[in-house]
Amino acid sequence: MLSIGHRGAAGHEPENTLRGVARAMRLGVDWIEVDVQLVDGELVVFHDDTLERTTNGSGAVAEQSFKALRELDAGEGETIPRLAEVLDLIDARVGLNIELKGPDCGESVTSIVGDYLERQPEWRGKILLSSFDETQTAELAGRERNFELGILFETDAEAALARARAFAAYSIHPSTKQVTAELVAEAHAAGIKVFVYTVNEPREIATMRALGVDGVFSDYPDRVGEYRG
Ligand code: G3P
Ligand code: MG
Repeated sequence: MLSIGHRGAAGHEPENTLRGVARAMRLGVDWIEVDVQLVDGELVVFHDDTLERTTNGSGAVAEQSFKALRELDAGEGETIPRLAEVLDLIDARVGLNIELKGPDCGESVTSIVGDYLERQPEWRGKILLSSFDETQTAELAGRERNFELGILFETDAEAALARARAFAAYSIHPSTKQVTAELVAEAHAAGIKVFVYTVNEPREIATMRALGVDGVFSDYPDRVGEYRG
């Protein structure tokens, strides 16, 4: 079962920061997941719509200038990273799941991904794009596919699996509430991997292993390798 560092390694380090990404790599993850939004023309790595929970700023992220965002403390003195900085730091040593948070960042994300793949072919097969936004996912599916596509969802697993088949997706990303043995069997029969979010507790890690899922997103990705239940 693959270990996917959630928001870097959010249980150990400030989420969605370079420090968290570096920690996840030291912990031996297979993939790293980060959230990305387009703000002031820049792709920034950030989860929420507002600044309060994870920074010393306040207000809506979308209303900030990039310069103002970069002046904030995102935890332990970290700045909010650009997506390019995360790609540079990982350097194709592990996979990167870019979760597109805004409805409008598909073009920018696929453009930067295309640049990195051209420059560094080692990235091939190691970039996985996903979004809860179904319109954005369909739009990604229609683009030139030099990346893997993940179907991220919260409800209606059968509909998500149908979309995954229709879009020839690499993976489906159910929550722990949505995943079942039947869903795993159906996905595997269609050649689609199952990556489950967000799995932190040892017992839950054991349950996911027993269900035969292919990977789990975890704030404590080190636990995924350790805990055999
Ligand atoms: O992409 C998996 C997981 O990160 C989805 O939920 O809210 O943590 O971005 P969230
Ligand atoms: Mg996410």
